[in-house]
Amino acid sequence: MCGIIGVLGNHEAAPILVEGLKRLEYRGYDSAGIATVNGGTLGRRRAVGKLVNLSDVLVHDPLAGKSGIGHTRWATHGAPTVDNAHPHRAGSVAVVHNGIIENYKELRAELTAKGLAFTTETDTETVALLTESYLRDGLTPVAAAAETIKRLHGAFALAFLFDGEQDLMIAARQGSPLAIGHGVGEMFVGSDAIALAPFTDQVTYLEEGDFAVLTRNSIEIQDRNGTLANREKRQIQLDMARIEKDGHKHFMAKEIAEQPTAIDRALVEYLGQDNTITLPENLDFTQVERLTLVACGTGYYSCLVAKYWFEQIARMPVEVDVASEFRYREPPISPDTLALFVSQSGETADTLAALRYTDGKAKQIVGLVNVPESSIARESDVVLPIKAGPEISVASTKAFTCQLTVLLLMALKAAEVRGQSLPDNVLDDIRALPGLVHQAIAAENNIQAVARDLASARDVIFLGRGALYPIALEGALKLKELSYIHAEGYASGELKHGPIALIDETVPVVVLAPRDALFEKTVSNMQEVMARGGKVILVTDAEGARVASDGVSETIIMPALPDVLAPVLYAIPAQQIAYFTAVAKGTDVDQPRNLAKSVTVE
Ligand code: F6R
Repeated sequence: MCGIIGVLGNHEAAPILVEGLKRLEYRGYDSAGIATVNGGTLGRRRAVGKLVNLSDVLVHDPLAGKSGIGHTRWATHGAPTVDNAHPHRAGSVAVVHNGIIENYKELRAELTAKGLAFTTETDTETVALLTESYLRDGLTPVAAAAETIKRLHGAFALAFLFDGEQDLMIAARQGSPLAIGHGVGEMFVGSDAIALAPFTDQVTYLEEGDFAVLTRNSIEIQDRNGTLANREKRQIQLDMARIEKDGHKHFMAKEIAEQPTAIDRALVEYLGQDNTITLPENLDFTQVERLTLVACGTGYYSCLVAKYWFEQIARMPVEVDVASEFRYREPPISPDTLALFVSQSGETADTLAALRYTDGKAKQIVGLVNVPESSIARESDVVLPIKAGPEISVASTKAFTCQLTVLLLMALKAAEVRGQSLPDNVLDDIRALPGLVHQAIAAENNIQAVARDLASARDVIFLGRGALYPIALEGALKLKELSYIHAEGYASGELKHGPIALIDETVPVVVLAPRDALFEKTVSNMQEVMARGGKVILVTDAEGARVASDGVSETIIMPALPDVLAPVLYAIPAQQIAYFTAVAKGTDVDQPRNLAKSVTVE
């Protein structure tokens, strides 16, 4: 949450900062701001709402200077107002911050007692005022920032800029990600490498507790003990530099359409031409008694699907937890547990905290991530990149189906090494997935008509059985977050135990039901809905439609496929229903209200 960018450059900083912020806007978009040092003097511009509002402000009120910091905000403390927007300034220091300062109230009381005045409701202003108080005590900017950091509890990535210092920036990290970009006679700071990609492909990731002093030509990093640290400089992939919609109306539409290619990339990574599944060598399923899968949101639903696969195919006991509950429950973790953390961004604070809880307790920590340089990847014993490519839309789509693809291959590999037989032809069948997903995406016209109807609903219910139950949950989550329509996913058989009381002619029910072994049971649940006036949208294959379409308001036809692959394929209509409903309602598809893509606070 929140994105930060900084530059000590040779060109005007404002356009560079705005370009970087554009790439970080997925992290938050309540307000944005920049500060520069020009002729030794700090100046700043801020605006509420999307980045475009800040760009407008800069057109009318430009900000010169070749050194600068910028911020795009996802509000935690204080409403999204200009006053609360970053950069925060106190006297001769300006600060941008991603994270939460947990002891800000105590610090605020201490600074107020010293006569320093607060003008915002944010936790971050405390950082600026504390630094300013140390400057007033006579400390140098570097020493003042260092003393400030020692006083902070919580999570932060911070960048500091100082009045009178044209060639100095301080960057510090604890709990929130931060990368340094190396240019030629220029230095950059960014919350992720995507933000830095237009300016440099040479990046150093700060580690927990690092404190970096930057000039245009030098970087000095101290670790949490104050010892000089040598951090690796890495080359980032150039494809990160391209963040375009490629003719699509929204990033989400582009990312839905990219799924056949993305899934294919995941298959190429882990499934050989001879149908050998190759996972990292150190991933060991043999002595494992239990799998613990932990994630948030959409990643949690991929874990729920994976539970069916690992249990049914590999015959391994599996527990699945939402990361925000996991560590506070203090679950006992036995040394024969394999702990698997699933995260697109690899930076989700709840998931990272859950990972750290299992560290030293579980046999191995496995990270399934889309961003290979992320914190979760770096703190895992084994990393499996899902190969989805950069996902910009806040609502996850291609990362979900790539997570599922890799999790299925993992379950099959676990079955193999544990002597369980695989479903017939499953490895050949998996190869058909990209083509099947492509066909499913092509069913979109019918979905547009369904979506126009759903756009006027107040509540929508999604039903699924077996491994399609998590897809019902995912469909409901997508619809909620994109169209702001209340939606719930239920296991089809659970409906009669309470939720059926909600059903009347105003509540559409989306039933995800491939013609599998459980189909007849799901159809019975669907009949129970229709008997109460419920309007059913049935997502099934041609055979399912032939036998069960009577009385159904709309049928969306998916290609027929082996049962084990159905969760991947049925994720597509779930995504498209949400996408087209949001388009019909005119909501902000790529940046839904109140959300952010990378959730780096608890
Ligand atoms: C929903 C969505 C979120 C994320 C969740 C976890 O469309 O994208 O629910 O899945 O915030 O994020 P990651 O996977 O980055 O840990």
